[in-house]
Amino acid sequence: MSQPSTIHLKDYLPPAFLIDQVELDVDLHLENTRVVSRLHLRRNPQRPEPGLPLELHGQELTLHSIQVNGAPFSDYQLTESGITLHHLPDQAVLETQVEISPAQNTALEGLYISGGHFCTQCEAEGFRRITYYLDRPDVLARFRTRISADAARYPVLLSNGNLIEQGQLEGGRHFVCWEDPFPKPAYLFALVGGQLHAVKDQFTTLSGRKVALELWVEEENLHKGQHALTSLKKAMQWDETVYGREYDLDIYMIVAVNDFNMGAMENKGLNIFNSACVLADPKSATDRAFHRVESVVAHEYFHNWSGNRVTCRDWFQLSLKEGFTVFRDQQFSADQHSAAVERIQNVALLRTAQFAEDAGPTAHPVRPESYIEINNFYTLTIYEKGAEIVRMLAELLGWPTFRRGSDLYFERFDGQAVTIEDFVACMAEVSGQDLSQFMRWYHQAGTPQLRVERHYDPAARTFTLTLHQQTPPTPGQSDKQPLLIPVKLGLLDAQGQDLPLILKGEALGDETVIHLREASQSWVFEQLDAAPLPSLLRGFSAPVKLDYPRTDAELALQLTQDSDGFNRWEAGQKLALNAIDALIQQQQQGQDLQLHPSLVSAFAALLQDHQDPMMLAELLQLPSEAYIAEQYACVDIDAIHIARDYARKMLATRFYDAFLALYQRFDLQAPWSAEPEQLAARQLKNTCLAYLVATESEAAFTLAQQQFEQADNMTDQLAALTALAHAEDPAQGQAALRAFEQRWQQDALVMDSWFSVQVTRPYADALDRLHQLKTHPAFSMKNPNKVRALLGAFCQQNPSRFHRRDGAGYAALADAVIELNQLNPQIAARLVLPLTRHQRMDDHRKAQMKAELQRIQDQPLSPDVYEVVSKALA
Ligand code: ARG
Ligand code: ZN
Repeated sequence: MSQPSTIHLKDYLPPAFLIDQVELDVDLHLENTRVVSRLHLRRNPQRPEPGLPLELHGQELTLHSIQVNGAPFSDYQLTESGITLHHLPDQAVLETQVEISPAQNTALEGLYISGGHFCTQCEAEGFRRITYYLDRPDVLARFRTRISADAARYPVLLSNGNLIEQGQLEGGRHFVCWEDPFPKPAYLFALVGGQLHAVKDQFTTLSGRKVALELWVEEENLHKGQHALTSLKKAMQWDETVYGREYDLDIYMIVAVNDFNMGAMENKGLNIFNSACVLADPKSATDRAFHRVESVVAHEYFHNWSGNRVTCRDWFQLSLKEGFTVFRDQQFSADQHSAAVERIQNVALLRTAQFAEDAGPTAHPVRPESYIEINNFYTLTIYEKGAEIVRMLAELLGWPTFRRGSDLYFERFDGQAVTIEDFVACMAEVSGQDLSQFMRWYHQAGTPQLRVERHYDPAARTFTLTLHQQTPPTPGQSDKQPLLIPVKLGLLDAQGQDLPLILKGEALGDETVIHLREASQSWVFEQLDAAPLPSLLRGFSAPVKLDYPRTDAELALQLTQDSDGFNRWEAGQKLALNAIDALIQQQQQGQDLQLHPSLVSAFAALLQDHQDPMMLAELLQLPSEAYIAEQYACVDIDAIHIARDYARKMLATRFYDAFLALYQRFDLQAPWSAEPEQLAARQLKNTCLAYLVATESEAAFTLAQQQFEQADNMTDQLAALTALAHAEDPAQGQAALRAFEQRWQQDALVMDSWFSVQVTRPYADALDRLHQLKTHPAFSMKNPNKVRALLGAFCQQNPSRFHRRDGAGYAALADAVIELNQLNPQIAARLVLPLTRHQRMDDHRKAQMKAELQRIQDQPLSPDVYEVVSKALA
């Protein structure tokens, strides 16, 4: 196999031609769809070199004919990646006719079939599987799309923009024409054909324009559509109020499909969604799923400005739209719910999964320098770390200035394809700040570490805070420069109250943001009568690892008193990490396990105050095994599992009565609603239930069984099922699992949870279950949701079983990756990632993981899997 080639940012060149207009004619057939495309081309003034050929991308296309300005054209060559046309006039209409086979498309890129419907996914480079094209984001064209299909099987035919024409054809076929007035890159093209039904609504924009809202689903899912539409209207309104951004077309459509590689796609005026991110009703969807729908609907909507109206020049700029849009959707969610809890959950994801990525062989800067397969770069680093960078900008500038920068950006670059520098330059311009050092956040990979030193001088009544920063080397980047790190902080007195901050004689109030720019830097706070306790990195003001040793008493003070909700939670996590670390050491030294009393007293204090049940539910969560593992240079996977499990069971036993009392207090016995009070109550109640069942007592099992049987909503039902199915005795969960399967076997999304619950059982039989479930009729390797629910959940959410000492977990993953590499390379390259996280494992496991990677490497591989595996073996 020839090695796939690497694309470099430094090689960027504008295209030789531009496309002003595209007329597409798509004649839909399962096996042989015919696509006629007419491209209105002209030479790009930015590429004045004479006689440049036109290089169009094309993949899996059967070419039937080419015409230029109405005459047959033969001065071309087919290449590995498309077609090169020579000696074209400066302006031309190029017509190509190709044939494609949607039914054979298991990669789910380009035009494919899901549940009998035609649908598309074009980001990043799927449009080249539909027709020959300049499939790059800096080519913006107006699209006019004619679709024809069998009228009975595909009554609904959708594309971007406005419907301008439709009619009947011979042979039971019909056609529609759509026209999108906004020039767009091909990655935002979409087309849908099927037997779909719409839930409809309407939105009136700020300036009084009426927008039709349509959510297209399969008939049996009509009752699951309302929440997405409600969320869409909230998002539209929010973007007007907070960012001054109004919607621009007369219609906004969302289509739900069951087979989708990612969460959703922001195609202009025609979003296509994974049904898991758009369908929800209380009976079948958990509160988490409701939240996911709301945030993904908002995310895709916000892309209409941050992504569509202003798009990326090239795919190295991906975070320009994704980082900014994730930041926007996080702000939106914070405004709809508890801001502190939202922040906690976002940071928890960042610090486990993104930090792990940044410390591994696939680490890359938020603006990468090179890639083999761009699909591999839709990562937590581009999305979540990218959002953190935008958040820091907003923090550094202050919201009003940041908002002016955002306005300037949208105004200046409307209708253009731009770079991250363009975005940051707007922020620098409106603020007058020099952001050149800040740009390093985009260029340097790896998680910076922040070390804290403190010194109190009683005679001078001053407190000196010293911060040291250092970013570890990452692949291809051995030397790192100091970053500009905004550190939000307060100083607490002995009661945990915020002290007034005075720096160089200037009074700064209770809270301030200091800017760390050097490798080491000190700040001297004045007029302090006693040593204060710094509350650092409030709200997680920068995506760094904080090395800040504190006593248990100091952590306990922060846990109960800190005015910053995020830092209260963080102090609790740190207390738990310390206690678990002690257990890990006892375990490693063969001692009896003894839970440290400071964690016990912390729980005692927490359980007395249930003013904020949503927050309390977060505070009662022990750090995940993945986050615990993040703390160690060499990970002892078994000791981590035993230590955490021991802590959980000890706390459950010690506080059984308190958990039961809270459970009863928050078991509202009212019909389901999505009111914040109810969400919080369910969250806390089910947190308590998990602790109660951890004691493996009969009474707790009975309680879970009752909840399972009586629940009127999926949140309660699934929480009870999980508690039962994760009991040590596998018999406890059996009846409930069977009943659940009976009840929900027709609902693919609910069955995803049923698969996940079983393979995340933290016991030795989890892998056997996985093997059995692979043959279950509801499972399919061709459906990405199923692959994620079964294999993804096992490998990512059940670390102690995935890393079983005999290596069988690794082998199961490698087998699946080898199979999927053929079917769906993009999903295969994602699934393999847990195998690439071997650096910190013990030698025995490291060797096994590498052997499985090698076994994959020995196969003929897609570029997607090749890139990930070769980086992991380098
Ligand atoms: N732009 C989509 C979003 O809203 C995701 C597209 C992902 N594409 C891919 N090839 N992985 O985030
Ligand atoms: Zn996005």
